[in-house]
Amino acid sequence: PHRGYGETWAKTILMGEHSVVYGYPAIAVPIMSLRMRAWAVPVRNGRPGTLRALGYYGPLAGAPDQFGGVLKAVEVAREFAGYPDQEFDIVTRSDFPAGRGLGSSAAASGAVIRAIVDAAGVQAGHDDIVAMTNSAEVVTHGHPSGLDAVTICGDDPVRFVNGTMTSIDVRMPAYLVIADSGIAGSTKEAVDAVRREYERDYDRVHDILERLGDLAAHSADDLRDGGLNSLGRRMNRAHALLSELHISHPKADAMVEQARRSGAVGAKMTGGGLGGCIIALAADLSSARTIRHDLLALGVPAVWIHPLNQLDVE
Ligand code: PMV
Repeated sequence: PHRGYGETWAKTILMGEHSVVYGYPAIAVPIMSLRMRAWAVPVRNGRPGTLRALGYYGPLAGAPDQFGGVLKAVEVAREFAGYPDQEFDIVTRSDFPAGRGLGSSAAASGAVIRAIVDAAGVQAGHDDIVAMTNSAEVVTHGHPSGLDAVTICGDDPVRFVNGTMTSIDVRMPAYLVIADSGIAGSTKEAVDAVRREYERDYDRVHDILERLGDLAAHSADDLRDGGLNSLGRRMNRAHALLSELHISHPKADAMVEQARRSGAVGAKMTGGGLGGCIIALAADLSSARTIRHDLLALGVPAVWIHPLNQLDVE
């Protein structure tokens, strides 16, 4: 093998977080302007491979638990590439933070897999990369839905329901503004909290989850039909329902309200919650820039603008 390179990108959940756990649909959007890059350099002299990532530089085998997925990614990719015993020095570099629901663990695994496959000069299809990324995600998350693995290396938004993925052809010249609260929310804690509430107050929570599922299902139609205002209204409703499940965060609520005051067509928390990121829908680039400006003035650590229609990226 020679020196290999691979990249993937961030994802964000447009609709359906949490209700997706109960079998309702969800929509995830690839954020191709937020890249995760990886390099794989074959080790020639027999020493063990290393990992250089944000927060760690040392032997691959001695990397802390949070890199368990990357270790698994290296293992499955070496196997796939036909070099099960080849050691690599792995470097990852990310445009976006970890632990904010942007899919950084899946993106890192996917990029490393692509880098090793590239290093070996073998062909791997999209499905191969997704399957390998998923086995790395099992190490990181236990029972991943598979949504992250598909979205971090795919071109289109994906509608997901009960394990089936369908890509959505977006007809909407709108922008997503993604803003980081700076607070690392634990998805597992949030999922557990919803479960407890579901068991304690079944009728109310079941109704909320059903409504979230409906909103997600109709949002897929909005994306296809260019229903900008109805998508925005659905995002606002979804945020209110997620707040009723007590998994939003005061900082996220303040950001959502600011985005709306600044002209967002709709805004909501995204992903697991209890912190993490919010997303706002902007009708055009100048509106997106106003929202970003005002969120930054609020003291939000990072704000990104992304066209919903990926064809606009180039
Ligand atoms: O925190 P994220 O963006 O990885 O999203 C979690 C989405 C949940 O629906 C809350 C959990 C899940 O496994 O689907």
